[in-house]
Amino acid sequence: MSKKWAPDTWRAKPVKQAPTYPDPAALADVEARLGIFPPLVFAGEARRLKADLAQVAGGRAFLLQGGDCAESFAEFHPDNIRDTFRVLLQMAVVLTYGAALPVVKVGRLAGQFVKPRSADTETVGGVTLPCYRGDMVNDIAFTEEARAPDPERMIQGFNQAAATLNLLRALAKGGYANLHKVHQWTLGFIADSPAAGRYRDMADQLAETLDFMAACGLTSETTPQIRETSFYTSHEALLLPYEQAMTRIDSTTGDWYDTSAHMLWIGDRTRDLDGAHVEYARGISNPIGLKVGPTMEADDLIRLIDVLSPANEPGRLTLIVRMGADKVRHHLPPLIRAVAREGRHVVWSSDPMHANMVKSANGYKTRHFDRILEEVRGFFAVHKGEGTHAGGVHFEMTGQDVTECVGGAQAITEANLSARYHTHCDPRLNARQALELAFLLAEALKEDRVKQRHTATGS
Ligand code: PEP
Ligand code: CO
Repeated sequence: MSKKWAPDTWRAKPVKQAPTYPDPAALADVEARLGIFPPLVFAGEARRLKADLAQVAGGRAFLLQGGDCAESFAEFHPDNIRDTFRVLLQMAVVLTYGAALPVVKVGRLAGQFVKPRSADTETVGGVTLPCYRGDMVNDIAFTEEARAPDPERMIQGFNQAAATLNLLRALAKGGYANLHKVHQWTLGFIADSPAAGRYRDMADQLAETLDFMAACGLTSETTPQIRETSFYTSHEALLLPYEQAMTRIDSTTGDWYDTSAHMLWIGDRTRDLDGAHVEYARGISNPIGLKVGPTMEADDLIRLIDVLSPANEPGRLTLIVRMGADKVRHHLPPLIRAVAREGRHVVWSSDPMHANMVKSANGYKTRHFDRILEEVRGFFAVHKGEGTHAGGVHFEMTGQDVTECVGGAQAITEANLSARYHTHCDPRLNARQALELAFLLAEALKEDRVKQRHTATGS
């Protein structure tokens, strides 16, 4: 691979999953306009996330990454953003409390608009049209006009991302995330669920702890960590014309950053060593994620790490493992051993969503809560066996009361799926399922911590 990099060197490589724009001049015009829009995030923020992720890589923190499979223009509403944010906050508190580890919060939000697809076209009733690639590319409606890729959608996506990020910043820093409000984050519709009951108990304990801390002089006035939180954004760096247009030089370091989000990841379908997406990602200094599916071989993984993280800087690279519940225990250990043998610093995170998709008898794409949990359990068990840190989780979830994944304490069945199946792409955990999963995860993390403490003290 050539060492020379510029924001456009990816154009000389094979580009997978790229839409074919009918009007190249219109595309070039949008790219030029985007190129002088303000950055959505600053380089310094991306560096702070990298430092936080370095703590995760070193086993001193845990990564919680989650949000929509695909954000959409139609569902753009402040309540949706706030509700996803608050479920993530609840999950983070549950995990922090359970594991006594700081939780790094990263949303699949404010820019997650483009999707890789298994086929370029879709045929319905004998009519073949381009596939839907996400709202930043085309419209989901099955008409020729809707499915034609339209570059103006990048501008709309940018504007929606900017407004979303503005609200997220306000929620994270403006008082909403104050730990004293921990009881108020519960969404009305989940109040009667078992997970909400457990959450209330934990929130009561937390309130007592905060009272104790206040008596010691640590209040939200004196301690910003009580009053506000850090929240970062991420999306798949799939639509490279958009990402290139958002790529800027940081004036303080002279390094290139993709200013469309704090963290960008490379999908499992576009992770070819010699492909455009790896070429683009290697030159930006943001923290990078790499999806690691069941076909990844140890040698290929090391070669990808060489290219994506040549300085071996902790926090630079997060490996997001998505093997499937039945494969993770078998496929993951050789990868962990190869990475350890080569002395590479990475964050290991588990995406238990993308390799556990099934079709329900009534035709819905769904995921079973039990299979999701089983993959996370397998991921934790493998790390325990290898003596490495199970560093994080990556979920597709929403704060809304949807019925897209089956199972959980709420026991959504296949027959229930049609009630509120709203996703534009993959099925998401709803707020109850997400919180329930956080409690189950916290238990696993706590067990590890208690064991580690006993080992350390010899008890
Ligand atoms: C995704 O995260 O939405 C996705 C498409 O994942 P993967 O690349 O792992 O299939
Ligand atoms: Co998805």
